[in-house]
Amino acid sequence: MHNKLECSLTGESHDPSVLQGLSSAGKPLLARYPLHELQNFTPEVVRRRQNRSMWRFHEVLPVNNPDEAVSLGEGGTPFLRTIPRGEFARFEHLWVKDEGANPTQSFKARGMSAAITRARALGVRTVALPSAGNAAGAAAAYAARAGMKCVIFVPEDTPPANILESVAGGATVFLVNGLINDCGRICRAACDEFGWFDLSTLKEPFRIEGKKTMGYELAFDMAEASGSDTLQLPDVILYPTGGGTGLIGMWKAFDEMQQLGWIGSQRPRMVVVQAEGCAPIVRAFERGEREAGVFPNAATVASGLRVPAAVGDFLMADILRQSCGTAITVSDEELMRGTLQLSAEQGIHGAPEAGAVWRAAVKLLDRGWIHRSDHVVLFCTGAAVKYNHLLGADGVIRLDQHSRQLLVDLKRGLSQNEQHEL
Ligand SMILES: Cc1ncc(COP(=O)(O)O)c(C=O)c1O
Repeated sequence: MHNKLECSLTGESHDPSVLQGLSSAGKPLLARYPLHELQNFTPEVVRRRQNRSMWRFHEVLPVNNPDEAVSLGEGGTPFLRTIPRGEFARFEHLWVKDEGANPTQSFKARGMSAAITRARALGVRTVALPSAGNAAGAAAAYAARAGMKCVIFVPEDTPPANILESVAGGATVFLVNGLINDCGRICRAACDEFGWFDLSTLKEPFRIEGKKTMGYELAFDMAEASGSDTLQLPDVILYPTGGGTGLIGMWKAFDEMQQLGWIGSQRPRMVVVQAEGCAPIVRAFERGEREAGVFPNAATVASGLRVPAAVGDFLMADILRQSCGTAITVSDEELMRGTLQLSAEQGIHGAPEAGAVWRAAVKLLDRGWIHRSDHVVLFCTGAAVKYNHLLGADGVIRLDQHSRQLLVDLKRGLSQNEQHEL
């Protein structure tokens, strides 16, 4: 359990025992734990735990004991080594952390599990949030699990799957003719008016706590992959960045693990990946600025990346600098190609955001920024199933079961379809 909430800009302390939003400076609050008192919290103890969910790290999550968690089994996601096939063979050590295997099929489950756990413990009855899509579905599910009401504000062109899952989860859904920052403004006003708790990412302290568990898990995954007991981190992490909560969360996890004595001071180079049509953090990075402002006319099919303004912009800038990282864009065409490559060549049915990080990795390899021998991890933050509306069915072959020349038809179909070299 945390014993402090600190402003990420000024370090000012805020009361951890009551509901908190942003700090008095208007910046994200970060939970701090008495790490030096956690002598019994060791990698060996974590490894022995039966519970494979993210709550196996409960000492550094906002609970007094793990039974308090509002959980659907989030975390413990697959860590997949890519098969050296096609362009994937250009990397000697490439892994995908497949967050699509989470409840509600995205990494948003981790953040919602932690935030709704803490909100319930502090007596919240209704949560409200703006979302690009996946956070909405996750919030609806965890609120349902917790017996809370959930109000969601999403852009009207949010993927249908996200809207449907939110409604099915019992949430009240408002479709807004604007972007996620417009939704955020309306959500804030509604929370002030109706007394709902604002669950906007980084505007309450605990979604980041859930997402940081990706960083803890990664250290265990990497150790297991190399057959070692010593926790390890990769050389490079590519993260599809909207609000950046996962990136900031993982960085926090690395610092905590160092303070716990679990890892040393070495850090991965962190890579922010955004879409060409919405790249506020990349733009700020290229300009050498710490604050990113609002990206105009934000547009990309990767809905999770369509976040024109991020409250944690300055934290990402610091991480990119401290980690000797970089920030890069990919076009929508590139990221869709990457998504299909991951599916067809690796069997990993990821969200377009995953296609984005894969294509970004290839670009950085071409530029010599990533080396062939680097240990590289791609974050696949969600599953393809939410994005069926973006996928075509070209190449599907119709077959008449009553045809007298069934095998001839079948052969004709095969030869017409170049994809099927059987
Ligand atoms: C699939 C997917 N990937 C990435 C992101 C961006 O996440 P973050 O806010 O941690 O940058 C989102 C956010 O909606 C998402 O849904």
